[in-house]
Amino acid sequence: MSEHETIELAALAGLKLETGSKDGPNWLVVFAGQDLAMGPAAAGIVAPALEQISKAAAAAKFKGAVSTFLEILAPHGLAVDRLVVVGVHADKTKPKEDFAAIHHGGALRGKLGGGNCLIVFDGPEASAATAADFALGMTLRAYKFDRYKSKKKEDAAENGVLHITMAVADVAATKAALVSSQAVSEGVVLARTLVNEPPNVLYPEEFADRAKALEKLGVEISVLDEKAMHKLGMGALLGVGQGSRRESRLVVMRWRGGKAAKDKKSRPIAFIGKGVTFDTGGISIKPAAGMEDMKGDMAGAACVVGLMHALAARKAKVDVVGAIGIVENMPDGNALRPGDIVTSMSGQTIEIINTDAEGRLVLSDVLWYIQDKYKPVFMIDLATLTGAILVALGQEHAGLFSNNDELSERLAQAGKHTGEKVWRLPMGPVYDKMIDSRFADMKNTGGRHGGSITAAQFLQRFVNDTPWAHLDIAGTGMSSPASDINTSWASGWGVRLLNALVAEHYESK
Ligand code: BES
Ligand code: MN
Ligand code: ZN
Repeated sequence: MSEHETIELAALAGLKLETGSKDGPNWLVVFAGQDLAMGPAAAGIVAPALEQISKAAAAAKFKGAVSTFLEILAPHGLAVDRLVVVGVHADKTKPKEDFAAIHHGGALRGKLGGGNCLIVFDGPEASAATAADFALGMTLRAYKFDRYKSKKKEDAAENGVLHITMAVADVAATKAALVSSQAVSEGVVLARTLVNEPPNVLYPEEFADRAKALEKLGVEISVLDEKAMHKLGMGALLGVGQGSRRESRLVVMRWRGGKAAKDKKSRPIAFIGKGVTFDTGGISIKPAAGMEDMKGDMAGAACVVGLMHALAARKAKVDVVGAIGIVENMPDGNALRPGDIVTSMSGQTIEIINTDAEGRLVLSDVLWYIQDKYKPVFMIDLATLTGAILVALGQEHAGLFSNNDELSERLAQAGKHTGEKVWRLPMGPVYDKMIDSRFADMKNTGGRHGGSITAAQFLQRFVNDTPWAHLDIAGTGMSSPASDINTSWASGWGVRLLNALVAEHYESK
């Protein structure tokens, strides 16, 4: 639930539309399959307007196809302003995606402003899971990042709170499903807000404080400051931050759900995020045009924090570590230079060729630290790592790089289930050789060719033999195109994907 709406549940059995009541719903929503087929409760409620609905459907050529909507103003004999019929019939030409209900909820929410709304989950959309997904889509669509607008829009019809009543067959089951879906939507919203925040507000220490707020959900948090990281020998991460007035931070979050709460020896799964709160490029400074977008260069870290929120808020039965390396990459008299050689925590040395290839430096120390300290079952890192991934995949897929086929396959499946899609790209010794250095163990860029792959090869040198996957989210995590479920600059990409991965494979019963 968000500031934009309230959600209540009602039983489908005996459901009636209050006629003539001022407080009655302004909107009524029902679902229809092929040729307007509805469940009995929905059909009963819309009965007075049936003729009008059939005529409107014929005029609009609405046949109940999946992801189509029929809107009727002032439906005859119904005490509502508008009736929306959501088509959910899938056929061979347009198969229904697993995430259809989320997108239906989002698309519908885009049509509604403030007021009251009764949604009748009956007929083809009767399950508790569908209702919960629908609610998730609605909340995600309603998200706005307007905290820095001094004049908020006052138009209640467009911006007021929407009071949603969901009429469902099984109230108890839906209530339980909603707890989970709302935990996930909170996680996505948290990730979006972190990415949308301006870089003068969200610098490393502030980011660490926001992560620390997860303590109230039972997440254990430890924050390493520069002194602690120096002791550990994290010369790569610290090198990136050394040109900034802001101190760097490493935040480790741990959620021990299910059996892991008591089992001190349990091995966690691990998620690691790149958290560059602003990336100027450093001494290898970026061009001015569009540089403001580099406030989003912490979308990987934001996703990890949002995911930890989601898992803890829904009390996922899993042992999970989330780690984020948070730095600001600035040019300065003390900044890293091209030609400098830094020593990472792993002991491997890195020649800096381009100070704008900073994300891999940050991640190298975090990956090494996490595999060394926690011996995780797997590590997945997320990073807005390369512009080259945008060239390769656009904004539709994140790049996936991995040393493990099973983990890759599971991520690909979770991508299909959530619509947060990944596309695996190749790795191998020939690419790896491209980052060998004349003066150190490796260099931090491999040239223009295969730029996203050589970045991944760099990271792989710091994972030891841990099953690992790297998601390059430079295309999916920020500057996001508007969709059914998001109209904000930041998508919160990855929270739903990784939540699904955990739910599908890594939770104990
Ligand atoms: N943060 C950028 C990558 C990026 C680009 C993210 C566009 C989002 C949108 C990263 O730190 C970077 O600057 N990468 C360089 C690497 C190069 C110097 C080898 C790039 O992609 O140009
Ligand atoms: Mn950079
Ligand atoms: Zn960067």
